[in-house]
Amino acid sequence: MTHPTHVSNRRGLDDAPLLVAANGGTPEHTPVWFMRQAGRSLPEYRRVREGVPMLRACLTPELVCEITMQPVRRHGVDAAILFSDIVLPLYAAGVGLDIVSGTGPVVNQPVRGAADVTALPELETEHVEGVAEAIRLLLGELGSTPLIGFAGAPFTLASYLVEGGPSRNHERTKALMHSDPETWHALLGKLAETTLKFLRVQVDAGVDAIQLFDSWAGALSPRDYVTYVQPHTSRILRGIAEYTGGEVPRIHFGVGTGELLGAMHEAGASVTGVDWRVPLDTAASRIDPSQPSRPVLQGNLDPAVLFSDWESVRGETERILAEGESAGGHIFNLGHGVLPDTDPEVLTRLVEFVHSRRD
Ligand code: CP3
Repeated sequence: MTHPTHVSNRRGLDDAPLLVAANGGTPEHTPVWFMRQAGRSLPEYRRVREGVPMLRACLTPELVCEITMQPVRRHGVDAAILFSDIVLPLYAAGVGLDIVSGTGPVVNQPVRGAADVTALPELETEHVEGVAEAIRLLLGELGSTPLIGFAGAPFTLASYLVEGGPSRNHERTKALMHSDPETWHALLGKLAETTLKFLRVQVDAGVDAIQLFDSWAGALSPRDYVTYVQPHTSRILRGIAEYTGGEVPRIHFGVGTGELLGAMHEAGASVTGVDWRVPLDTAASRIDPSQPSRPVLQGNLDPAVLFSDWESVRGETERILAEGESAGGHIFNLGHGVLPDTDPEVLTRLVEFVHSRRD
């Protein structure tokens, strides 16, 4: 294994269940956290965010620290995830965009051709100093709870940039990819560079694991994923593996990626996130069946199930815990983010239930 090439503030949390599971060991209980655990499902979040625009909040260290801590205090989850957004590094570098409530990221001037790609500003470390400072504050607050840093993967970021906002069919993105592969690869190369730099800042500041969100990669066929996306994502995941000497787990997640699980794992993930559509035992057998060690998986309760009665939530959770036993390690999570109208008390009860199961 290569030696880390950076100086980091990372703490030695070797016994933390999240890190034990991520490294393929046997934790004292199945670790659990929730994508989008910090956010609108919590009244304390809605209170502190009042009047503060989303992206400004993401660059205000004290606010990032407070919002990141809220679900840790309330639910007792096994990990904190940095409060931020996938478009934050683009915004910090100077791309004109905003996050519109109820819609998502909206880009002022969509990227549609070679000149637009050349004009994209580059991220400098100073642009995200607020994020590094927030991570340093969090290390002082978290005790033995690991902190997950994250970034958006090149395809998902490209989709927002090319479409100009959220998209159902990603038609302009796919048109650029197929009609002008040179410009496409230049765009994804630039986004990979930005993402790698942003993740290195987070690692240097001390995050204990990272997650790469390629939320919309499931829109692609496996062939297009491997040709147009995987090399760029791989550069990020392998870049972080090399930078940290393999010491920082790399979680890779997307929605509707049942056909891509093998390719997303091969991109250089140490943990593969699975949405609710594919049972974890099926997912485990789809990922590199020739390898002697089983893959480590994260997932995968349907976030909509949290609106059912407790018996249903418990039943689905038991099924997922049983299916997760066929993985080389299991980090319990939802199959996508917490929906804004979720009752936070159900999340707390779910954490207690997962922790109480030790078979
Ligand atoms: O998981 C966490 O608790 C950390 C916070 C987090 C946010 N965004 C905060 C946020 C994370 C990990 C993200 C990642 C993100 N952002 C993704 C990947 C994860 C996924 O859901 O697939 C994507 C696709 C985005 C883009 C984005 N940003 C969307 C679709 C939205 C929702 C827009 C809306 O109002 O419906 C955002 C805004 C956003 N990011 C909010 C939060 C808490 C809501 C903003 C608010 O509170 O006003």
